[in-house]
Amino acid sequence: MSTLRVNNQTYTFTCDPNTPLLWILRDVVGLTGTKYGCGIEQCGACTVMVGGGTEKSCEMKLGDVGSGNVTTIEGIGATALGKAVQQAWIDLQVPQCGYCQSGMILAAVSLLQRTPKPTDAQIDSAMRNICACGTYTRVRAAIHKAAGQ
Ligand code: FES
Ligand code: FES
Repeated sequence: MSTLRVNNQTYTFTCDPNTPLLWILRDVVGLTGTKYGCGIEQCGACTVMVGGGTEKSCEMKLGDVGSGNVTTIEGIGATALGKAVQQAWIDLQVPQCGYCQSGMILAAVSLLQRTPKPTDAQIDSAMRNICACGTYTRVRAAIHKAAGQ
């Protein structure tokens, strides 16, 4: 029996501990906002927060999550910072197709937690998520807006 804490709710289920966290979130917990892109830790579409940092849920095994809370796009708006980032995304109409954007938002919140007023260079260095629609300029602008810059 496995126990997983997601967006401050506890889920208990039976599953192979080697199952990637992404599939637990999507198929067991039923939160489909976190996306599958590459499956090899390269694109960032599957980014979630575990404890304080970001993780690629396509590669993280259920058995490695531990007791920390997993935050997904469905729960990120529960904090003031998460809400500010989501609002900046709306205000600047960042998404195009939207597929990469939940991972982008999770990565942006994590960046702003570590660096409340990031420079362009710090944003470019931290935001390694791939966007096939090329929203990078708006992502950068939205991070500055959420940071109050
Ligand atoms: S799906 Fe996980 S990094 Fe691409
Ligand atoms: S908005 Fe389409 S892949 Fe990023």
